[in-house]
Amino acid sequence: MLSKLSVIAGKSSEDVAKRLSKKIKANLIKTEIRVFADGESKITLNGEISKKKSIVVQSIYPPVDTNLIQALSLISKAKEISSEVIAVIPYMGYARQDREFLPGEIITMKVLGKLFKGAGASKIIAVDIHSMIGFKHFTIKTKNVSAIPELVQYFKKLSLKNPLVVSPDQGGKERAKEFAKELGSEYIALEKKRDRKTGKVQIKTKNLDEVANRDLILVDDMISTGGSIVKATQFLKKQKCKKVYVACTHALLMNNAEKRIRKAGVTKIISTNTIPGKTSIVDISDTIAKAI
Ligand code: R5P
Repeated sequence: MLSKLSVIAGKSSEDVAKRLSKKIKANLIKTEIRVFADGESKITLNGEISKKKSIVVQSIYPPVDTNLIQALSLISKAKEISSEVIAVIPYMGYARQDREFLPGEIITMKVLGKLFKGAGASKIIAVDIHSMIGFKHFTIKTKNVSAIPELVQYFKKLSLKNPLVVSPDQGGKERAKEFAKELGSEYIALEKKRDRKTGKVQIKTKNLDEVANRDLILVDDMISTGGSIVKATQFLKKQKCKKVYVACTHALLMNNAEKRIRKAGVTKIISTNTIPGKTSIVDISDTIAKAI
């Protein structure tokens, strides 16, 4: 029997979509993609879409624009049949482009807001969006869910002795605070400066007494080039800390970032399956299911 709910699995989020469909007892619709030599995506759906409600699951990680157009196409097709379409975007690409940092910069999140609405989504759910400012540009309903409780569950199992939670920058202070609260530990936030033109990162914090001889958990929403984590780890190692673990929701790990992070002295990187990969050990489908 056709369920009242369909989960449409975009290619970038097949694992999350499959787990989610089981949890919410929805009909799973798989997609077949052919990317033509010129980069265009040809999408075919395998299954019957519910007339009532569809949930399209598709993260927007690299190739970012390809995954974005595929998400919009799936939403548009779903809206032809379902009266309600929810877009689950576990990793919300473009979320860092939420304000005009330098004169003339385009706020791409504004464009995405129009695109998702135009395609037919009535609600969008993301996991640990870079900042809630991004969703202020959307006129459809939005919801951000936190992966921190699931990440903390993993770290509880490691039974680290008196670990200190560290945010590599002041922007991530609240995230570190939330993580530390769940874990029952202390937290600090470093002072980071990024050159808006070159993207280069510097740690401005001077000496720190509280990290010496302690295991640390560096918490961030995402790792892209790895620059923030590498610089933070190098600094923390100079302060004579013990092991450095990294907990992040979205591990993009561009351009050999994993290798550079390990070389800087990180023991282990733990991320979620918003972006599938070697480090994505923590499953967030349960958190998404609860939000739906
Ligand atoms: C910045 O504000 C974010 O929270 C991340 O710290 C940043 O996007 C990570 O980028 P990267 O790995 O390139 O330093």
